[in-house]
Amino acid sequence: MAGEKKVETTGLLGWVDARFPATSTWKAHLSEYYAPKNFNFWYIFGSLALLVLVIQIVTGIFLVMHYKPDAERAFQSVEYIMREVPWGWLVRYMHSTGASMFFVVVYLHMARGLMYGSYRKPRELVWIFGVAIFLCLMAEAFMGYLLPWGQMSYWGAQVIVNLFAAIPFVGPDLALLIRGDYVVSDATLNRFFSFHVIAVPLVLLGLVVAHIVALHEVGSLNPDGVEIKEKKDALGRPLDGIPFHPYYTVHDIFGVSIFLMIFSAILFFAPEMGGYFLEYNNFIPADSLKTPPHIAPVWYFTPFYSMLRATTDVFTWVLAASAVLGAIYIGLRTRFAPKIRLGIVLALLVVAVLLRVFDAKFWGVVIMGGTVVILFFLPWLDHSPVKSIRYRPTWHKAVYLVFAINFLILGYLGVQPPSDVGNLVSQIGTMLYLAFFLLMPLWSRVGTFKPVPDRVTFSAH
Ligand code: HEM
Repeated sequence: MAGEKKVETTGLLGWVDARFPATSTWKAHLSEYYAPKNFNFWYIFGSLALLVLVIQIVTGIFLVMHYKPDAERAFQSVEYIMREVPWGWLVRYMHSTGASMFFVVVYLHMARGLMYGSYRKPRELVWIFGVAIFLCLMAEAFMGYLLPWGQMSYWGAQVIVNLFAAIPFVGPDLALLIRGDYVVSDATLNRFFSFHVIAVPLVLLGLVVAHIVALHEVGSLNPDGVEIKEKKDALGRPLDGIPFHPYYTVHDIFGVSIFLMIFSAILFFAPEMGGYFLEYNNFIPADSLKTPPHIAPVWYFTPFYSMLRATTDVFTWVLAASAVLGAIYIGLRTRFAPKIRLGIVLALLVVAVLLRVFDAKFWGVVIMGGTVVILFFLPWLDHSPVKSIRYRPTWHKAVYLVFAINFLILGYLGVQPPSDVGNLVSQIGTMLYLAFFLLMPLWSRVGTFKPVPDRVTFSAH
């Protein structure tokens, strides 16, 4: 019939296609999946995240062949991998470098989403699956870090698991459940091993599949924030789209090559990365009787760790005052329906009171968790009439820049030992981080927006 797609009916492929959607899947997701033709540098990080995921799984499988999840033998088994197992050092360094590079790639991937408004309708679920992936990745990295059973593994886990104990009522029991003991011990190592090698990776893989299926349902956005599906040719193909394969497969191979050069340079010349990828204290076996003078998580957790440390008793006063001011502001605004206004005002006042009822340690945990969880709500916080930063007022660009610099400063402060100045800067940084998201419904719609073109802007190169 005219217009119907030709499907292979003979040969091996025909045999398979009659029983399994091989050709149709290839077409739907690659050779006839139309991606915008104006992708830029920022669009490589999704593919790179997939690559690093594969590297982590493959190297992980080989590490498990020699690693011993036993408090008496774990540290030695890692040394054995590094010194005795043929190519063991390479596999281990690939896995440890891969962990940090995963976060480098994912942070850049998220930054792209933030800049171009990739989380906006109709991509909310793509973003939500992404944030869930980010949470899983954090859990995966945290539990993996205990496995070498070095001083930082041990004390880092001790500090973080103890945080759960700050949750009112259920906290102490929850911390006990996580550790399986009253201190981090062999029981903790066993359960973290089990979660790190199978439970979390399974969830992670499921989420990555959901992430990509959701993306392919709605199609990719692009740096202009223009929906290419709105302008199609007579055959129903987006005018500004090009088939993912071969165009972006070749493009991605180029990006992957550059990435692998950087990855190899780190792997072969600086696998510890000055103590940032592998902390020096972790080359000392765990000792439950000797607390290291300065316990800091690995760099990718430090922005959130800074916000935890910033939450002192005085800071909860500042937060409570901010909640009261917010209640007054909302109370005076007539834009909201009276019932909604009353609801928000009451909620803010309750938060202000609770901030003084529970201690600062608990609120530190809430803020550390909340600063990640808030990302889930981003699609509904951003009220800007345009998606991409390209067409936003210039001062919005400055806001995003300040947000990014602030995040880097928080990250830097999180690796430093605590100090008065550092703490003050972290507190200001935490306020900026929270204000960026919580006030987004207000600031994101203000200013002079530039007209968004009908079609994507593209010049062949
Ligand atoms: C294991 C981690 C991840 C993998 C393997 C992954 C994979 C991908 C891939 C292959 C794409 C399409 C290519 C691209 O647009 O770059 C994509 C798009 C996207 N990802 Fe991820 N991703 C991961 C984590 C995340 C995280 C943590 C977030 C956000 C919190 C996120 C948000 C998005 C969004 C919003 C898009 C759509 C972009 C657009 O259409 O403009 N992803 N992801």
